[in-house]
Amino acid sequence: MSVLVTGGCGYLGSHTCLALLEAGYEVVAVDNLCNSSRESLKRVSELTGQPFKLYECDVRNGMQLMQVVEQNNVEAVIHFAALKSVSESFEKPLEYYENNVGGTLTLLRVMALQKVPYLVFSSSATVYGEQEVQPVHESAALRPCSPYGRTKVTCEEMIEAAARANPDFSAVILRYFNPVGAHESGRIGEAPQGEPSNLLPRLTRAAAGSLPPLVIAGDDFPTPDGTGLRDYVHVCDIAQGHVAALEALERRPSGVLTCNLGAGRPVSVRELIDTFERATGVSVPCRVGPRREGDLAACWADITRARQELGWSPLRTMEEACRDAWNWQSQNPFGYDGPVL
Ligand code: NAD
Ligand code: UD1
Repeated sequence: MSVLVTGGCGYLGSHTCLALLEAGYEVVAVDNLCNSSRESLKRVSELTGQPFKLYECDVRNGMQLMQVVEQNNVEAVIHFAALKSVSESFEKPLEYYENNVGGTLTLLRVMALQKVPYLVFSSSATVYGEQEVQPVHESAALRPCSPYGRTKVTCEEMIEAAARANPDFSAVILRYFNPVGAHESGRIGEAPQGEPSNLLPRLTRAAAGSLPPLVIAGDDFPTPDGTGLRDYVHVCDIAQGHVAALEALERRPSGVLTCNLGAGRPVSVRELIDTFERATGVSVPCRVGPRREGDLAACWADITRARQELGWSPLRTMEEACRDAWNWQSQNPFGYDGPVL
């Protein structure tokens, strides 16, 4: 099967391209490189020994997207391409709607015109917002609390409407919790443009000395050790979830299936720091600071549905995620753009 991966050069896209190639899929990637580098997919080709096509293309460019789909006989799309910073989405909400909603709309129209039957869509746990009941089940009422989160809800709604109107189109919506880590080779990993805001990339850079000591954002949450609880899941398990989603689409080709992808277990900021230090033998300079505005005390996934419907389970431990993140950071202190150590 020929699979189009939008946002293929990004963090999740590059790991998923690798997993797809290893599973025997043909891969075609598109990316406008607004938050990534071509180098990631060059390395995926090296790791798998399989060359594949990358088009520098914006998903909002319907004409170009049509050509890519047509020329490559695309049968399924995995749609990662989006802007993903919660804080930036408050500053530039219209850019987020234009890119995330506009891009998904264009893609859905191209898929309808070209009769591409299967879509896997990247959604986020951020659609849930604050929930009293943990772990969070897919049936929870959606309460996104940022423009970014609202773009994801809007995209989910568009996909559901498109599937209702067209019995030959089906989709799996994946709501990722906190993807972390890197491929075990240390050749691909998370390399955002600019300073990262997520915990593990900040932690590895603080450990490497390229960022100031890590600030634990609050230790007065109503959690066992006072720090925030999240559901960290290895990026290679997330990548495998996409292979499982494609297989599920081939088995049950109608409607929309929405699944959480997480480890299904809460980990506190302090626990993550301890695990990292144990797994790598490297100490993390850190201090306690104030809470980040709008931060949730706790959020973790009920992954029963992904287990049952996709036959997917996370296989890698938090220790492995920490070791792999550190391996990536140590070998590529400047991401894809600097010298490899
Ligand atoms: P990323 O920024 O590394 O990857 C996104 C890729 O899409 C980048 O390569 C970027 O250049 C590209 N892109 C953005 N807009 C584009 C456009 N209009 N046309 C073509 N390419 C475009 O992000 P990621 O972490 O790999 O996330 C992938 C997806 O998963 C996103 O949709 C994100 O919202 C979602 N998600 C990510 C996380 C996470 O923690 N990484 C969590 C939940 C959901
Ligand atoms: C953020 C995004 C969410 C996205 C997720 C994964 C927000 C509000 N939400 O969530 O949409 O899906 O990333 O990419 O931004 N922390 C520190 N110090 C730091 C950074 C983080 O203590 O320097 C703590 C936070 O308080 C939190 C935990 O680490 O408890 C995880 O933070 P982060 O990696 O930013 O992820 P989320 O807050 O879950």
